[in-house]
Amino acid sequence: MDLKRLDKLIALNCNVSRKDARKLIKDGAVTVNSRLAVRAEELIDTDADEVSVNGYTFTAKDHIYIMLNKPQGVISATRDPAKPTVVDLIPDNLKRRSIFPAGRLDRDTTGLLIITDDGAFAHRIMSPTHHVFKTYQAVLEFPVDENDIRKLESGITLGDGTKCLPAKVKSFTVDGLPAAEIKIREGKYHQVKRMFFALGNKVLQLKRIQIGSLKLDPELQPGECRELTAEELELVFTDENQD
Ligand code: URA
Repeated sequence: MDLKRLDKLIALNCNVSRKDARKLIKDGAVTVNSRLAVRAEELIDTDADEVSVNGYTFTAKDHIYIMLNKPQGVISATRDPAKPTVVDLIPDNLKRRSIFPAGRLDRDTTGLLIITDDGAFAHRIMSPTHHVFKTYQAVLEFPVDENDIRKLESGITLGDGTKCLPAKVKSFTVDGLPAAEIKIREGKYHQVKRMFFALGNKVLQLKRIQIGSLKLDPELQPGECRELTAEELELVFTDENQD
């Protein structure tokens, strides 16, 4: 059981100071398991108790993990003076001071992005040594043939001489357009686009649909997000050797 003081938890989860957290409790804005909270020093079981502030219930766990369906046009950064970021899309009840995207998608790439405040988790997803495959669906200018697939699957060399680790590739069509599903375990700059470019092809649209065995929730519209369940978190690090 992990116990934390109520005022500390509110400060952490609601992006307010400890002083403001105590004021919220004093003002009657806080409930614990639907009961009005009165003591700032009350100990909360972060695995079991449910805390609400002004009607918003938040998770009391140490870290937060959010699945976002990233829309086009937002950047994978925490803040930016001019452009909207993925963190701007997170609603207040899930927002914490130190959340950031675990990995990057290009501004025009859509799909699955995990937003978290857990640095070790993000490192594990991003580092190629941990072999977490990310699956992308790419709509292409030209169909990929067997020769292209062989090159991608044996580790293609990009235009600047960078060698990629072997990918897994399937060819198909989307609304009659040539497309491919590609799984890679690295995150080099514009990697998927550059891999197809090295074959003389061009990525017209790119969407990430899976990280490890965790699939993008089809119920999430572009721009929508929700917290991941414990089971889903495990899927991120589950190798899907089944295909
Ligand atoms: N590869 C790319 O080219 N772009 C992305 O956003 C992700 C992978």
